[in-house]
Amino acid sequence: MTVSQQVFLRDSMRRLNLTRDVFAARIGVKRRALDTWLLPEGSQEFRTMPEVVSRFVTEIVQNEGLLQKYAQSAQSGPLRDRIAYHGKHQLLSVDQFTRESVEDLFRIADQMQPIARRQKVSRVLEGAVLGNLFFEASTRTRVSFGAAFCRLGGSVCDTTGFTFSSMAKGESIYDTSRVMSGYVDAMVIRHPEKGSVAEFAQATNIPVVNGGDGPGEHPSQALLDLYTILTEFSRLGKLLDGAHIALVGDLKYGRTVHSLIKLLALYRGLKFTLIAPRGLEMPDYLLEETGKQGHTIVQSSSLEEGLVGADVIYATRVQKERFAAEEIEGYTPDFQVNKAIVDKCCGPDVIVMHPLPRDSREGAHDLSVDLNHDTRLAIFRQTDNGIPVRMAIFAVLLGVEGLVQHSLRDVTWSPPSHIGPDDSILHDMD
Ligand code: NCD
Repeated sequence: MTVSQQVFLRDSMRRLNLTRDVFAARIGVKRRALDTWLLPEGSQEFRTMPEVVSRFVTEIVQNEGLLQKYAQSAQSGPLRDRIAYHGKHQLLSVDQFTRESVEDLFRIADQMQPIARRQKVSRVLEGAVLGNLFFEASTRTRVSFGAAFCRLGGSVCDTTGFTFSSMAKGESIYDTSRVMSGYVDAMVIRHPEKGSVAEFAQATNIPVVNGGDGPGEHPSQALLDLYTILTEFSRLGKLLDGAHIALVGDLKYGRTVHSLIKLLALYRGLKFTLIAPRGLEMPDYLLEETGKQGHTIVQSSSLEEGLVGADVIYATRVQKERFAAEEIEGYTPDFQVNKAIVDKCCGPDVIVMHPLPRDSREGAHDLSVDLNHDTRLAIFRQTDNGIPVRMAIFAVLLGVEGLVQHSLRDVTWSPPSHIGPDDSILHDMD
């Protein structure tokens, strides 16, 4: 590069007519990383931007078509109107997002990080009540939605399980939803049937979030997964456009991968390697949709072949509770993602993800615990990201995202510097 990095980046932002925030989001890096690249070369905090970023930015500014696309000014109007579902402020599917709106949501999630990391508190949702209605097993989704709402100053009412709900007495989804709407200001619903959360949403005008509808979708999980990938890539100096993503396991019934593949497909030129046991392959409609968007899809039943060169390995649990006629008991050992296979097939900067829970029972062969102390394992950074992303979802759906920044106060207690015994220094970097 003949001009300095600082001049090159400033010139590119000017030509694209973008602010630092929007420029960082468009090229898929954290604002904090961009700030360090924009410092004068002699400065102490100056960092050299990765080669791939400079190539990508050069490509955009030199190509008229791309320049137009990336320079488009941010769409107008509040984010909640841009992602609305049939005119309502609800989150039922990742289909509601464009690349631009998803990155807008992530900028709000970034603003939530000081609260999620227990440095700041906010009360922007004071007085609001969340109804957390979970008709299927859950730990992290239910608690993290609840915690996210509480950390914005709201309160949470929970109901768990089918047996102890009025649905066991034959109450319809419509009646339950309408009744709950009189009690709470937003609802998160998890239900075993595909399409059921959309039915809940039809019976109410309060915000509804799909916390998982059977084998259908799990949009908040996919959002936090994508947020994690972008955060990790930013630390590693990688771009998501052109990356190789390996999805492993039960791709037929795993709703997290159904939402995730659609969300990732908003990016450019990805390679997806789908590695599933026979009979648990990704549904055809998702393969067609993803293929039409110009991505490469390779299906494989060999973990060893499929993982070669992957930037992300996303493993999933066998969804035995959703099986119809399938015989399979768990994964055979050759489907297990473990340290040996990751070392053999991937580089030092691969990230290993899983929506959790992982089935740690003997014979399940889910994601191995032998990667637990390996920094490439991102599963707990992933679960931690569930809080800021879910806070952002609530803030947007309830229209308070603009109030957060000025509402922040210091915490009064002293949280530990690292929340988990295995947390490395990586935890605080992005
Ligand atoms: C997933 C789910 O419920 O779909 N869990 C989660 O919400 N993180 C994955 C699973 O149950 O295997």
